[in-house]
Parts: sequence; structure tokens; C-alpha cells
Amino acid sequence: MKEIRDINILAIESSCDETAAAVVHNGREVRSNVISSQIDLHKLYGGVVPEIASRKHIEKINQVIEEALNEAEVTLDDIDAIGVTYGPGLVGALLVGVAEAKAIAYARNLPLVGVHHIEGHISANYIEHPDLEPPFLCLVVSGGHTHLVCVKDYGKYEILGRTRDDAAGEAYDKVARAIGLGYPGGPKIDRIAKEGNPDAIVFPRAKMEDSPYDFSFSGVKSAVLNYINGCHMKGETFNPADIAASFQKAVVDVLVENAMKAVEEYGMYKFAIAGGVASNSALREGMKKACEERGIQFYHPSPIYCTDNAAMIGAAAYYEYLAGTRHGWDLNAVPNLKLGER
Ligand code: KG4
Ligand code: ZN
Repeated sequence: MKEIRDINILAIESSCDETAAAVVHNGREVRSNVISSQIDLHKLYGGVVPEIASRKHIEKINQVIEEALNEAEVTLDDIDAIGVTYGPGLVGALLVGVAEAKAIAYARNLPLVGVHHIEGHISANYIEHPDLEPPFLCLVVSGGHTHLVCVKDYGKYEILGRTRDDAAGEAYDKVARAIGLGYPGGPKIDRIAKEGNPDAIVFPRAKMEDSPYDFSFSGVKSAVLNYINGCHMKGETFNPADIAASFQKAVVDVLVENAMKAVEEYGMYKFAIAGGVASNSALREGMKKACEERGIQFYHPSPIYCTDNAAMIGAAAYYEYLAGTRHGWDLNAVPNLKLGER
């Protein structure tokens, strides 16, 4: 009989513009991690076009799954459960992964484990840090989410704060577009900010008086757009690197400040970051320094596990599987799924 410690999960992720499949062994060992990105297609439109995303997922998903199995040198006979992102995300995109996962699970009589996308991002930290176990605090910063989460136990989350408007990555992408850098803007701002002066322009840092862990990035985004418009109207040139560096500093300052406030308030010794923006070099540096100053262990995934991937879904699915989470054939895509909901 198979031991509980010998679980292979085939994980599928299709919530936005990456079609991804992975085989993950015992939640932390990635046997394969295949990602087919649609970025080149969507950048023609300056952002993700949902209808195109769904169609591309359909075209790619079988191939991506086959590659994931081949790379891991396994067949479906070696798989113990299917993990799949069922929300939040683009409904049409999610449905492709969910339908595929249900079909495989049904055909092979395998357990089906639906995973929350943010739970996946958080769990990306388990992959390269065998020592990391809850409880810890995690800041999830991606294109769609900015959440400060207390991970009380595997699968047990308390959301301490969230953005009131734009997600951090969304603000990066919009500012990048305004400077003329194209989509996705986060990595490009990260790159050119290195040549700019972060103190050149003082952009606003929003504080929520009633909720110290909440965020707001629409103010800083608008301030950047106003600054650029002002330059255009006055016929002045602007320095994109200075804008990028100053904008990035305003965002990182707030993320670090709120996160450290929560770490101290909750008496946590471990802090992690996750999501696409977690690969940002200034954010990593800022968090590393702040954690060192407080004697807190700092965790972050490698960039490949920060942006959307299926390995993180496999890690999350493993702990859900151990906790007994099983979904039926009625599993549906839930575009606005809340963390902690089943
Ligand atoms: O986690 P992710 O792949 O998708 C969502 O779940 O949203 O995150 C994508 C976001 C995009 O907004 C992208 O611009 C941002 O992550 N991003 C970055 C960096 N790399 C990706 N933002 C800042 N600096 C980076 N190096
Ligand atoms: Zn994501």
C-alpha cells in the first residue's frame, strides 16, 4: 500500500495568461513545472484579453500536461490526485483548467482537489524551503491581488489586510504603460528603476487610518500619471528611470511598513512574500533588510515560482489533500473565490 508520504500530484493552473501543469511529489519536490505563457500575444493589446486567454488555454492545455508528465518521467498511473486552480481569476480561463482536471480525475478515478490561486502563491514558499512551516505571515503581491495573510496552519488563513483598489502589480503595469514600457510592466520598471534616482520625485504613500494593514495604490498610480501629463503640458521631458525608481520606492515603502507592522503586532518570527511582484528586486531587498533588523526569518520563492505556475498549485493541493479536501464533479470555476472558502 502507498504511504501517505508518497503522493504525486498533477497540478493544473489556467487562471490568467499562463497555461501550466506540474508534477509535485509530497508537496515540496517539483518533478516538473511546465509553463506556456501567452504574454507575447496579450502584449499586442497592452493587457490580458480574457477571450483570447481562454482560447489559448484550450489549444495548449493537453500539450502542457503531457510535457509535465514526460518531464517528471511518470504516467497517469503514478499520479495520486489532480490539483487545479478553481478561483479566483478569469472565469473562461479557469474553466479550461477545471474541465480538464475533472476529465482526467473522472477518467482515471483520481481524487480532485480544487485550489485557491492565492493559496497556491503562498505555498510556492514551501517548494524551496523545506524548513518553512506555519505559522508565518505572507504578503501576496501579484497582478490581481495584494493581501497580507496570516498563515495559521496549512490551509488555514486569516486575511489581515488587502488593497482597497489597485493591486500592486496592476499599479506597476499601469505606470509602465504610461511611461511607454509596454506589458507586463513590472519586470521592466524593476529593470529601469536601477538606473533612476528613487528620491527624484516624492509620490504619495497611502495610509488607511481605520485599517493599518490595508493598502491603496490608485493614489500613487494617479500621481505618476498626473506628473507625466504635467510634463507633457509644460513641454518638459521626463526621466522614465527616475519616475520608475520613485514610484517603486513609494510602493515598496508602504508594503514593507505595513508588513512589518503586522509581523510585530502578531509576534511572528517568519515572514514570506509571494506572487509576481515578489520577484521585484527592490521589494526583496527592502523586506530582507527590514526582517534582518527585526531578527525575522525571511522567505521568498525563486522568480519562476513567483509568477503564475502549477508547481505552487501542486504544493497547495498536497496539503489540502492531506487535510481531506476532495471536490466533486460539480466543481466549478469561481472567479471571485475567497481565501479559505471551500
Ligand atoms: O502572480 P502573477 O503572475 O499573476 C497574478 O496572479 O496576477 O503576477 C503578475 C504580476 C504582473 O502585474 C507583473 O507586472 C508583476 O506581477 N511582476 C512584477 C515583476 N515581475 C512580475 N512586478 C514588479 N517587479 C517584477 N520584477
Ligand atoms: Zn497569480
